[in-house]
Amino acid sequence: MVETLAAVEIRDLVKDFKTSFRRKPLRAVDGVSIRIMPGEVYGLIGPNGSGKSTTMKALLGLVAPTSGQCSIFGKDSLKVDSRNDVGFLPENPYFYKHLSGVETLRFYGKLCGLGGRKLADRVGELLALVDLEGARDRRIGGYSKGMLQRIGLAQALIQEPRLVILDEPTAGVDPLGSRQIRDLILKLRERGITVFLCSHLLEQVQEVCDHVGIIFQGRMIREGRLDDLIAIEDQMEIVLRNASPELISKIAALVKDAPDAELVRTGKPRTTLERLFLREIRDEER
Ligand SMILES: Nc1ncnc2c1ncn2[C@@H]1O[C@H](COP(=O)(O)OP(=O)(O)O)[C@@H](O)[C@H]1O
Ligand SMILES: [Mg+2]
Repeated sequence: MVETLAAVEIRDLVKDFKTSFRRKPLRAVDGVSIRIMPGEVYGLIGPNGSGKSTTMKALLGLVAPTSGQCSIFGKDSLKVDSRNDVGFLPENPYFYKHLSGVETLRFYGKLCGLGGRKLADRVGELLALVDLEGARDRRIGGYSKGMLQRIGLAQALIQEPRLVILDEPTAGVDPLGSRQIRDLILKLRERGITVFLCSHLLEQVQEVCDHVGIIFQGRMIREGRLDDLIAIEDQMEIVLRNASPELISKIAALVKDAPDAELVRTGKPRTTLERLFLREIRDEER
């Protein structure tokens, strides 16, 4: 049997940073291993300073590991050709403020060796994908944070990568803008692009990722399929529409007669505050 090549393979990654005022170096990443298969959307979650960005930078070959190995589609991250298939949206992307959206994408496209008709088509396609066609000729300096993240995402996609690495793609973006970015990530998944993202915002990860790793103080503390991680193993949920009180009491009586089962709770399912907010303003807009 041929084993499929992992899109991302991080093995026992350790990264120490020298500090001038401390004798001991700071261990930013402490034995992290991550494997992401092609087509997966993997979310690395953890509080600020837990080593997410450092892990991503090591994978991109931007920082040299103290020990451990990283590879992308089987190519060692320390080799330049590992980056051919990767798009990267850094934590605080820097753009030339005086360039327009379309000029920005052209600029990055040229850096990747694109030109002519191919570049023009690609830029048009990406502006449509990130919903910035209406702002294509406006200067980046006037873009909102959400628009900047979207143009950053378009930039990361310019060379049609098979893997996209997104460092806090929704940080500082309002809920509506975050929703747009999440929808975009779902579109990437539909296209079969592997996504490796990190965030300190749990909800955002929960809505798009199928695999999750929880990192804390440089160590991976939990990892697995999202559904497995958040399932309450010994419970089962039934969601009913238009259930009468009589039906509920019948169900409760049935459960009472079952030897081991217990009715834990009945009531209306709750949405998240964020979904409520989005639903309310959408209704408001209609
Ligand atoms: N270039 C650097 N030099 C020294 N310390 C660093 C450097 N980059 C990150 N760190 C430290 O490493 C730890 C992890 O940082 P980082 O990977 O940026 O965390 P996160 O992205 O999860 O917020 C932090 O304590 C941070 O201060
Ligand atoms: Mg970070």
